Amino acid sequence: MRAGVIGAGSIGGVVARALRDGGVPGATLSGVVDPAGPADLPVVRPDELLSTSDLVVEAAGQRALAELGPRVLAAGLDLLVVSVGALADDALLETLLSAGPGELHLSTGAIGGLDLLRAAARMAPLARVTIETTKLAANLVQPWMTAAEAERLRTTEVPVELLRGAAREVTAAFPKSANVAASVALAAGSWDVVEAAVIADPAATVTSHVITAEGPAGSYRFEIRNRPSPVTPTSSEVVPHAVLSALAALAEPRVVFR
Ligand SMILES: NC(=O)c1ccc[n+]([C@@H]2O[C@H](COP(=O)([O-])OP(=O)(O)OC[C@H]3O[C@@H](n4cnc5c(N)ncnc54)[C@H](O)[C@@H]3O)[C@@H](O)[C@H]2O)c1
Repeated sequence: MRAGVIGAGSIGGVVARALRDGGVPGATLSGVVDPAGPADLPVVRPDELLSTSDLVVEAAGQRALAELGPRVLAAGLDLLVVSVGALADDALLETLLSAGPGELHLSTGAIGGLDLLRAAARMAPLARVTIETTKLAANLVQPWMTAAEAERLRTTEVPVELLRGAAREVTAAFPKSANVAASVALAAGSWDVVEAAVIADPAATVTSHVITAEGPAGSYRFEIRNRPSPVTPTSSEVVPHAVLSALAALAEPRVVFR
């Protein structure tokens, strides 16, 4: 499987280098598209990537997904999306779903439990789903915050709940939390049933996501405690490895949970 990578930053860079170094049996790196052009990776133009790949990993951000995702799928290549938060835009999701013949795959990214949520929701609609994200307070400062609010986050000595509400509203306010909330909403089959919360903890050494769901199939609680990436502390170190695990399953299926 010839895999190309769009966006070779903290996630895509790890993925591209692992592919280049033979870290995924059955897969090779076809090229990388990134205006930042990492010197140690084979940077190519988008049209070149499309003509030399079987699958493309998008790890470049929401705008790049909207621009390049439909082209990748229309060219008959599979697309593995990391910027899942972009799919809070129903129109973009529909565009990607109908852009094929390529197949759309979503990375599980920073969280898990999505398979069971999907199974439970398939049996009968879930009544209530929550996702509560706790991060190091200083990493939650947003451009829309006033100087006083930002300073309070940097200096708080106790955990502060910044926002709790409909998942769409919370992801709009905290785009870095959008990926996990969108993954939960897509697995649950509904945005309306999902409540999200963002908590700033001055002492957090891990980024945690507590996901709960209740419905006729049962009640579920998943607690994820991810170590932040040492390079990009706002992201979790495991995320590129979720992408590599998906690539391994697509390249040479062995033990695969679906
Ligand atoms: N699914 C999840 O659980 C999850 C978890 C963490 C991050 N993410 C998402 O993954 C994406 C990548 O995150 P990151 O931490 O690696 O970001 P990053 O900023 O470290 O890297 C992004 C890279 O994409 C490049 N880029 C930007 N626009 C581009 C374009 N149009 N074409 C090609 N390359 C372009 C940038 O130059 C940069 O090198 C983000 O959207 C982020 O929100 C998803």
